[in-house]
Amino acid sequence: MSNEKIVLITGASSGIGAATVDKVIEAGHKAVITARSTDKLNAIVKRWGEDKVLAVTADVSKLDEIKNVVEKARQTFGRIDVVFANAGTGVNAPGIENGNPDEWKTMLDVNINALLFTAKASLASLKETRGHFIITSSIAGKVTLKGSVYGASKWFAYGFGQNLAAEMAEWNGRCTTICPGMVNTPFFDEAKPDKLDPSDVADAVVYAISANPRCDIREITLMPTK
Ligand SMILES: NC(=O)c1ccc[n+]([C@@H]2O[C@H](COP(=O)([O-])OP(=O)(O)OC[C@H]3O[C@@H](n4cnc5c(N)ncnc54)[C@H](OP(=O)(O)O)[C@@H]3O)[C@@H](O)[C@H]2O)c1
Repeated sequence: MSNEKIVLITGASSGIGAATVDKVIEAGHKAVITARSTDKLNAIVKRWGEDKVLAVTADVSKLDEIKNVVEKARQTFGRIDVVFANAGTGVNAPGIENGNPDEWKTMLDVNINALLFTAKASLASLKETRGHFIITSSIAGKVTLKGSVYGASKWFAYGFGQNLAAEMAEWNGRCTTICPGMVNTPFFDEAKPDKLDPSDVADAVVYAISANPRCDIREITLMPTK
């Protein structure tokens, strides 16, 4: 029996999402990839081929756009087995007193609303396959970080993951919340070569989806050793 899964990945144009595309395809699955940067998505399709990767450009903070991604995935591959809600962003101005409310709004639209919209748009499809929803929270969603609105958005992602897991358990669906420490991605302006590599987080995703169906890996925390 084929273990091939159809894996929808948001934030797939860069960093953790792009590394996860490579890992899931190497593991024998197919990917539906989305982000706003069409050129970067197309480069990934070119590398792996249209039989393995479908790219659909979307701003995930818009419900209609993520609904369209789900629809295109179903039209092309017939089903969705896994959704990796990974898109996220940060802010430049730290703290509350010095923070910028416009930046907060843009960030919360992605880190909170897009997560909700991705779940809302895909849950009925996942119910059909008894599928798996995976969230990128952060270690910043488990610890106190002085004045961090980004960190608070990741506490939301963590809490939402626990509550969604309980809802999905009603039909034997699985939900995993991944909490990485610092990862060397374009999220930061400067390289962080001694921190986690995006492929480390991608390995965690593949580990979660490869577990025996009786086993719901509810959360994974990974930290740089250094
Ligand atoms: N790097 C870290 O240290 C770290 C640690 C813990 C958790 N995380 C989390 O990991 C996730 C991935 O981050 P990363 O480090 O891989 O950063 P990244 O390289 O900057 O990737 C962010 C991804 O999100 C997408 N995105 C942002 N806004 C979007 C929007 N409105 N609509 C659609 N896609 C959007 C970007 O694509 P486009 O710009 O092409 O739209 C890009 O693919 C985020 O949720 C982040 O909070 C990161």
